[in-house]
Amino acid sequence: MRRLAILRRAKPPRTRGFASISSKNGSISDGSSIGSIGRSSSSSSSGSGSGGDLAQDDESDGRGGQRPGVNTLSSGKEAGHVSVLRDEVVDVFADTLGMRNEALIVDGTLGAGGHVEALLHRFETLPCNLRIVGVDRDPDALEIARRRLAPWGDKFRAVHSNFSEMKTTLGDEVMPVDGVLLDLGVSSMQLDRGERGFSFRNEGKLDMRMDPTSPVSAWTLVNKGPQNVLETIFREYGEERNARRIATQIVRARRKQAIDSTHDLVRAIAPMVDWKTARSHPAARIFQALRIAVNGELDSLETFLDNVPNIVRPGGTVAIISFHSLEDRLVKQAFKKYKDFTPCFRGVRKASKEESTENPRARSAKLRAIARRLQ
Ligand SMILES: C[S@@+](CC[C@H](N)C(=O)[O-])C[C@H]1O[C@@H](n2cnc3c(N)ncnc32)[C@H](O)[C@@H]1O
Repeated sequence: MRRLAILRRAKPPRTRGFASISSKNGSISDGSSIGSIGRSSSSSSSGSGSGGDLAQDDESDGRGGQRPGVNTLSSGKEAGHVSVLRDEVVDVFADTLGMRNEALIVDGTLGAGGHVEALLHRFETLPCNLRIVGVDRDPDALEIARRRLAPWGDKFRAVHSNFSEMKTTLGDEVMPVDGVLLDLGVSSMQLDRGERGFSFRNEGKLDMRMDPTSPVSAWTLVNKGPQNVLETIFREYGEERNARRIATQIVRARRKQAIDSTHDLVRAIAPMVDWKTARSHPAARIFQALRIAVNGELDSLETFLDNVPNIVRPGGTVAIISFHSLEDRLVKQAFKKYKDFTPCFRGVRKASKEESTENPRARSAKLRAIARRLQ
């Protein structure tokens, strides 16, 4: 895939913007160390069960009994995001890691923490003492997930990072791990909050940065980006046939007045749309393309995929949910390339009719998973 110079500049430097972790020693803002969450000393025998730590914590905080939130599995609606293919993801990790004494996995796209909650919940019934480091580049998501997953105590830690940098951020104390989950793209919380500027449906400043410390926003691209760069973004990341006409129209519109908001952009491209033949809202492709460009989404995914053999230990598992063909193609090709990994199932898992009806985001979701052979 052709690289765009303006987008390379959009990537933050490696150590910048980590609100809660020093990438040098892996310490977390609450004073604990990442390494300590992965290497539990309380679970060395397979019969100990994963509830042991929780029982100890209950005693130590004097409350007795189980803490609220651990026994119940929430739908995610309250947190603002319903996890896609939740049971399928949990099955993959339970099947591959469930019978061990302990395992440490990274959820590289923590979001509202729905997959993490479901995994911890299922592993309560299995011999494996599972601990999870949740990574997200969006500080708002980290806050939401921290609150939701607080009842799980030291089984979970949240870290601000791009998943493409997880090896460096989490360091040798944690890496390599027993599994990685990626649930790519944006969360409903990001789409629903107009001020984040992700959705053409909600009015807000054109922004689209998952990490607000990233230097280039959608506003910068749309108002300052060269016409040929915009055209390439729309064609490559939005698979938009009218990329040139739409880029030309945007440049024409911004000469008259800055395109400040999501709805300004929708209005700017409206004259280019053949509404009779449009199958979906054309702004959807343009917004997707800009979001992918602003956040360097495919670059992050490629960097992660290149690193998988250094991140996942023998016997470990990688599961990735993608939402469009550009992502899925990268995942499929990379999974085929690895030498000592085998697919957990043939092809992809997709959402059931029921899930797709209840959660339209699930319609385009594809789950692929591979496990590394024990050497
Ligand atoms: C679809 S949501 C994940 C939802 C989550 N699985 C759940 O069940 O609640 C995707 C999340 O990944 C984050 N994200 C996307 N790309 C990322 C990257 N390269 N590094 C870190 N986080 C990323 C987004 O900020 C968003 O919060």
